[in-house]
Amino acid sequence: MSEEPRIADLHRRRDAVSAAGGPERIERRHAEGRLTARERIEHLLDPGSFQEMGTFVTHRCTDFRMQERKFPGDGVVSGSGRITGRQVYAYAQDFTVLGGTLSESNARKICTVMEHALKNGCPLIGLNDSGGARIQEGVTSLGGYADIFLRNTLASGVIPQLSAVMGPAAGGAVYSPALTDFIIMVQGTSHMFVTGPDVVKAVTQEDVSFEELGGASAHSTKSGVAHFAARDDRHALDLIKRLLSYLPQNNMSDPPYEEPADDPDREDPALDTLVPPEPDKPYDMHEVIRRVMDQDSFLEVHEHYAANIIVGFARLGGRSIGIVANQPRFLAGVLDIECSRKGGRFVRFCDAFNIPIITFEDVPGFMPGTAQEWGGIITNGAKLLYAYCEATVPKLTVITRKAYGGAYCVMNSKHIRGDVNIAWPSAEIAVMGAEGAVKIIYRKHLKEAQDPQAEQQRIVREFRDSFANPYVAASHGYLDDVIEPRATRPYLIKALAALANKRLQNPPKKHGNIPL
Ligand code: HXC
Repeated sequence: MSEEPRIADLHRRRDAVSAAGGPERIERRHAEGRLTARERIEHLLDPGSFQEMGTFVTHRCTDFRMQERKFPGDGVVSGSGRITGRQVYAYAQDFTVLGGTLSESNARKICTVMEHALKNGCPLIGLNDSGGARIQEGVTSLGGYADIFLRNTLASGVIPQLSAVMGPAAGGAVYSPALTDFIIMVQGTSHMFVTGPDVVKAVTQEDVSFEELGGASAHSTKSGVAHFAARDDRHALDLIKRLLSYLPQNNMSDPPYEEPADDPDREDPALDTLVPPEPDKPYDMHEVIRRVMDQDSFLEVHEHYAANIIVGFARLGGRSIGIVANQPRFLAGVLDIECSRKGGRFVRFCDAFNIPIITFEDVPGFMPGTAQEWGGIITNGAKLLYAYCEATVPKLTVITRKAYGGAYCVMNSKHIRGDVNIAWPSAEIAVMGAEGAVKIIYRKHLKEAQDPQAEQQRIVREFRDSFANPYVAASHGYLDDVIEPRATRPYLIKALAALANKRLQNPPKKHGNIPL
C-alpha cells in the first residue's frame, strides 16, 4: 500500500534534514575522525530521548544568492533530551552545513534552547563546531552572537552550562564557550582563537600554526581557557556526561547523591606517613585525595594548567564535593597568578551550585618576584580570597603541612567562615617558615653571635618546636581538631553530614565587586 502523500512528503523532508550537508561532507568529517552533529547528539543523550526543536528552520538571507543554498535546520541541531535520566537541553553546530556558521535563524534556534533550559532549570550543553559569523548575513549574524552571549550570561550561576569545542571557534564565536562554566576541547581537531594565524602574522610577525595558537594543548596547558582536553569526539562527550554527574540541575537543587560502594568508615594508615618529615620535601597531594575520597571518584578539572593547585570534583560518602588542594610537588604548592584564578573560579562555581568545598592545604605562601607583582598577583590572589570569603556552601579544610602567611588566611581559614577546619600533626601554621622568620626577628642578635650559623640553627630548631605545629592555632580555636591522618575520610564524611542543611546568606546586594 502506498504511503499517504502528506506523510510521504514529511518523510522526504525529514530525509533532507538527516542528509545535512550531503554524503561527501559527512564522509570528510568521518575521515578526519570526527562525528557529525547528529551523531554527537546521539552519543551524548540517552537512546531515544532526543526531541528536536526547530527541525525545519531555514535562513532568510537573499544576499549573495543565498536563497539557493537553504538547508532545513540551517546548520544547527538543537533540542532536549536526557543524560542518565536527567533532563538537559543541547545544541550541536553542524559544520557540514554552510560551515556550521551562525545565521540569524540558527542563532534564534540556539537562543530558544537556552531559554527553555533556563525556564525549566536544566543544564545546557553546547557542542561548538563553526566557521563563526555567517559572512553573507553580516550584522544580523553578529546580532545572533550577541543574543547568545546575553543568554549565557543571564543563565550563569542558574543552570550549569557546558561547552565542547569540537572544531573551529574563531573570532567572537569563542566568547559563548568562554561565558559558560566548563570548556572541553578535542585534541587535534578543535581550535579557539580571537584572531587566526594569518592575522597574528600580519600584526605581530609571529609564525604560529592553528594547533600551537589555539589547539586543545595550548588552551589546556598555557591559557587555561579549556578545562579538559579530550582524545576524540566520543571522549569529549563522555567527559560531559561524567562532569554532569557531579552537578545539580540548577542553583536551587542539590547535586545528585550516589550510594557509595566505598566504606565511609574506611581509615587509611598510609596517610600517617605520607607527609615527609622534612618540610621542603615534596609529596603528591593527588595521593591524599585518592586515599580519602570514594574510590575512583575524582574528576580533575584543569589537570594540566597551574598544577600548583589541584581542583576537581569527587564523591565523599556518596555526596558530590569540590576539591581545592595545594600541590607541594609543583612549585612547592605556592600561590601564583594562574593558580589563584583557577582556584577562585572553581570555588565560585561550587558555591553557585551548592557543592561543598573541601580544601587540602600545604602552602608556603604567595609567589615572590617582579613577574608576579607586575602581573597583578595582588588582584589575582584576591580573586581566590574573595571567592572563599563569599562562598556560603559547606567549607571544610584539612591542613596537611604548611599554612604560611596570607595564604593561611586565603585557603578557607576559620576566619573567612571555614565551617570545619582540621589539621594533621605535621601541620605548621605560621607567618612564614622558621628560617625566614628567625632571620628577620633575630637579625641583630645573629650578627653579634660568636658563631652566627650555629646560633641560627639553634634558634630555628627552637622556633620550629614552639611554633611550627598545629597546636598554637588549635589553642586559639582556629582549628576544630588535630586528627590522625588515617582518620581523615571518616572525619570529613561525618562533618559533611552535619553540614548538609547549612543555611547562610550574604548581605543583600546587586552583586559584589570581585577583583576581576
Ligand atoms: C560563511 C563560511 C564561513 C563564514 C566557513 N564558511 N566560514 N561561510 N561565513 N564565516 C564556509 C566555507 O565557505 C565552506 O563553504 C564551508 O564553510 C567549509 O569551510 P572550509 O573553509 O572549506 O573548511 P576548512 O578548510 O575546514 O576551514 C574551516 C575554517 C575556515 C578554518 C573555519 O573556513 C575559516 O577560516 N573560516 C572563516 C573563519 C572566520 O574568520 N570567521 C569569522 C570570525 S569573526 P563551502 O560551500 O565551500 O563548503 C566572527 C565574528 C563573531 O565570527 C562576532 C561575535 C561578536
